[in-house]
Amino acid sequence: MKIKVGVIFGGESVEHEVSIISAIQAMNKMDQEKYEIIPIYITKNREWYTGEMLRDIETYQDMDLIKKYAKNVVLYFKKGRFVLQSKGLFKRVVKEIDLAFPIVHGTNVEDGVLQGYLQTIGIPFVGSDVYASVVGQDKIYMKQVFESEGLPITNYTWFYDVDYKEDSDRVIDKVSKLKFPVIIKPATLGSSVGIHTAHNEEELIDAIDDAIRYDNRIVVEEMVANLTEVNISVLGNYEHQSTSEIEQVLSAQDFLTYEEKYIGKGKMKGKGGFVKSSKGMLSASRKIPAEIDEKLASDVRKYAVDAFRAIGSSGVCRIDFLIDQKKKKAYINEINSIPGSLAFYLWEPTGKKYTELLDDMINVAIKDYKKRISKVHSFDSNILAGFAGSKGLKGLKK
Ligand SMILES: Nc1ncnc2c1ncn2[C@@H]1O[C@H](COP(=O)(O)OP(=O)(O)O)[C@@H](O)[C@H]1O
Ligand SMILES: [Mg+2]
Repeated sequence: MKIKVGVIFGGESVEHEVSIISAIQAMNKMDQEKYEIIPIYITKNREWYTGEMLRDIETYQDMDLIKKYAKNVVLYFKKGRFVLQSKGLFKRVVKEIDLAFPIVHGTNVEDGVLQGYLQTIGIPFVGSDVYASVVGQDKIYMKQVFESEGLPITNYTWFYDVDYKEDSDRVIDKVSKLKFPVIIKPATLGSSVGIHTAHNEEELIDAIDDAIRYDNRIVVEEMVANLTEVNISVLGNYEHQSTSEIEQVLSAQDFLTYEEKYIGKGKMKGKGGFVKSSKGMLSASRKIPAEIDEKLASDVRKYAVDAFRAIGSSGVCRIDFLIDQKKKKAYINEINSIPGSLAFYLWEPTGKKYTELLDDMINVAIKDYKKRISKVHSFDSNILAGFAGSKGLKGLKK
């Protein structure tokens, strides 16, 4: 019997469109002999839909079509089964699912929020659990974990928007202890949204003013000079890990912008801001393998595995590095728990086809799930019985 895989994508995130592209690519590459693929699309308004039409990229040009022809559903646990049930007056089970495969990017979905829901209803799912997802999305938590594990990161500081609003001088003083130029980032966004570089205090103030529009926590870090950016993917879980080929990301700008990452040079946005190139992360200009010496490459591989384990990731992650080519030093920039295109293009040069990678991810998920349910999660207790028996709810009232 085929395993029923519910591929969940979209969601209320600035990377909504990129997620659609990543998910459609993956659904096309999943082994149709082994898996029954059920697309589950979350709109920007947080409505869940399913239906075969959601596997076709053209569908997303017209949201009205989706509302009319796809099934509006909820995913939940019912009589020992995970089901997609239609909403409205006549509720019925539209599909049953064995395993969820989130292919989502960004806040509200990749950051543990969706994973929390999946864990709450108890469905096995591919990729990092809640804890790893949270840390993987938050540029401050991530740095704190890496730092405490002795992994190389750039010097940084962070603050809340209220700290800045109440006493901006104190915040500027704190940041000025870093060496300019610095880069200012909202803690939990992705795709270079709200990120600016600053070469002096004046630019710093402008940058902070913009960054606090996006997040209440801001991280400021020193810029790496003589920069070469490389990325690597890690596959596995806390027990076993393997590493992909290393890519070098080429960029004309100070840093990769949203357009560069996902749209590619000269590509236009289609109707409704949708990306026409449909290539996802493939459209960023890259060199595989990266042109770095073997010592740096082996540092990158080692730090990537250490970072993956430090946050307890699972499935496929992409770990991004900033290299100072003069100092020959690699710094971990960030970990992406659900990378664009699931980083398949970093695995193909190692001989692992995308179909096989997806297979591996599903197998890891099944192993993780078995491990998780084998741990003790509850113990018999008569606390509630005693509570209800003696005082009932009255005990709670003043
Ligand atoms: N400390 C740094 N030094 C130099 N460049 C940086 C630094 N941090 C980020 N960048 C540049 O900014 C880009 C986006 O920053 P990143 O932290 O990766 O945010 P995002 O989550 O948006 O990808 C990076 O790809 C890199 O080009
Ligand atoms: Mg990045």
